[in-house]
Amino acid sequence: MPILKTENLSKTYGSGATAVTALNRVSLSIEPAEFVAIMGPSGCGKSTLLHLLGGLDKPGEGRIWLDGADLSTLNDTALTTTRRQKIGFVFQFFNLIPVLTAHENVALPLALNGAKDAQRRAHDWLGRVGLAERMNNRDGSGVRSRK
Ligand SMILES: Nc1ncnc2c1ncn2[C@@H]1O[C@H](COP(=O)(O)OP(=O)(O)O)[C@@H](O)[C@H]1O
Ligand SMILES: [Mg+2]
Repeated sequence: MPILKTENLSKTYGSGATAVTALNRVSLSIEPAEFVAIMGPSGCGKSTLLHLLGGLDKPGEGRIWLDGADLSTLNDTALTTTRRQKIGFVFQFFNLIPVLTAHENVALPLALNGAKDAQRRAHDWLGRVGLAERMNNRDGSGVRSRK
C-alpha cells in the first residue's frame, strides 16, 4: 500500500482573470521507503504540491491519502496530529524557532506529542546526523550585522 497517494489534485490561486492554476489533476503514488525527488522549473507548482502533501494547505479538487488516511476527511485537530506524527517538513528557510537551541527545536514536537524521553531522543538524533557539536546553537541564519 502506498504511504502517500494523490488523485487528481488541483489547486488554483485567485479567481477570474487573475486566476493561476498551480496544479492541474496531479496523481501520484509513493511506496514506503521510496525516495522521490520532485523537479521542475520555478513556478511549476512544486511548493504548492508539497504544502498540500504536508497538510499545510487544502486542494481545490482531488484527494490525498497519507498512511491510509484521506486528509480531506480530517478536522483541524486530526490534521494537526497527523502533521505532528506522520510527516516531516524542512522548509527552504528552515522555520526553526530562533530563541530555542537546535536541541530544543528538535525536542519540542516530541514533547508536544507527549514523549517522556523527548530530551534524550532529540540528543540521540542530532548525534546521528552529525550535529552533536551544535546541540546548543541557535539558528543564526536570520542574524545580520547592523552595519
Ligand atoms: N499564494 C499564492 N497566490 C497566488 N499565486 C501563487 C501563490 N503561491 C504560488 N502561486 C503561483 O502558483 C504557481 C506555482 O507556484 P509554486 O508552487 O510556488 O511553484 P514552485 O515551487 O515550483 O516554484 C506560480 O505561478 C506561482 O506564482
Ligand atoms: Mg517553490
